[in-house]
Amino acid sequence: MTSDLPIGVFDSGVGGLTVLRALRRRLPAESLIYLGDTARVPYGTKSVASIVRYAAQATDHLVSRGVKMLVVACNTASAVSIDPLRERFAPLPVIGVVEPGAEAAVAVSRRQHHLVLATESTVRRHAYAQAIARLAPGARVDEQACSLFVALAEEGWTDGEVPDAVARTYLAPRMTHDSGGPDTIVLGCTHFPLLHDAIRSAVGPDVAIVDSATTTAEAVARVLAADDLLTTHGRSGALTLLATDGPDRFAAVGARFLGEPIGAADVEVVDL
Ligand code: DGL
Repeated sequence: MTSDLPIGVFDSGVGGLTVLRALRRRLPAESLIYLGDTARVPYGTKSVASIVRYAAQATDHLVSRGVKMLVVACNTASAVSIDPLRERFAPLPVIGVVEPGAEAAVAVSRRQHHLVLATESTVRRHAYAQAIARLAPGARVDEQACSLFVALAEEGWTDGEVPDAVARTYLAPRMTHDSGGPDTIVLGCTHFPLLHDAIRSAVGPDVAIVDSATTTAEAVARVLAADDLLTTHGRSGALTLLATDGPDRFAAVGARFLGEPIGAADVEVVDL
């Protein structure tokens, strides 16, 4: 394993570009290969068997190109397939977004009462609840599937009446509680940071809202340093973008997640 190989980043589609953005900010010298499985998105409503198979195929592809680490930027794939991936691709370091997200939530929560917003598959797996319980035994963790947020973020409908009404409908019943309600909202899906303002207006100003992108980038930096895998070339890292379908849509929608323009010609289409 050489330290000048790129880091492989995998997501079900374009949502993981929020994690890629945090990685580029934290580790500007590292080269990154991002693979979005746009042909098969969404993963959030699929079975465990399909998600594990898709994640292994994507990892096979990244490994065949040569990567020194895998970042599973998709919350659903992290929740469902992190252990099989670690087993199958050892000794490749595999970092998911659930553990860093749980760490961020536990660090900011005052009463350790969390509400995790995620896809159906992530909620069904209780991955965040388990990760938070490992860090803060006795924490209370409620979970809410918010599948419509994914479609809204993809459509660019992130502000205004529609996202506000959807956020209120999902969240209002979860905020009132005998015990005072959750004090921390965990954005347990790649798409949800784009709905931050709508979520904020539904939960009010006193609740902390955390996502896993920044803490995942920190975890990646930590593991690279510990394994002596930080790049040594000193230049800006290269970025390679791969998708399994629709480079035009990847570029148009992905730019919102990455926070900078993407040219469709810069997206290579691959078959897994
Ligand atoms: N990337 C997925 C996640 O973070 C959201 C989109 C999907 O369902 O594939 O859970």
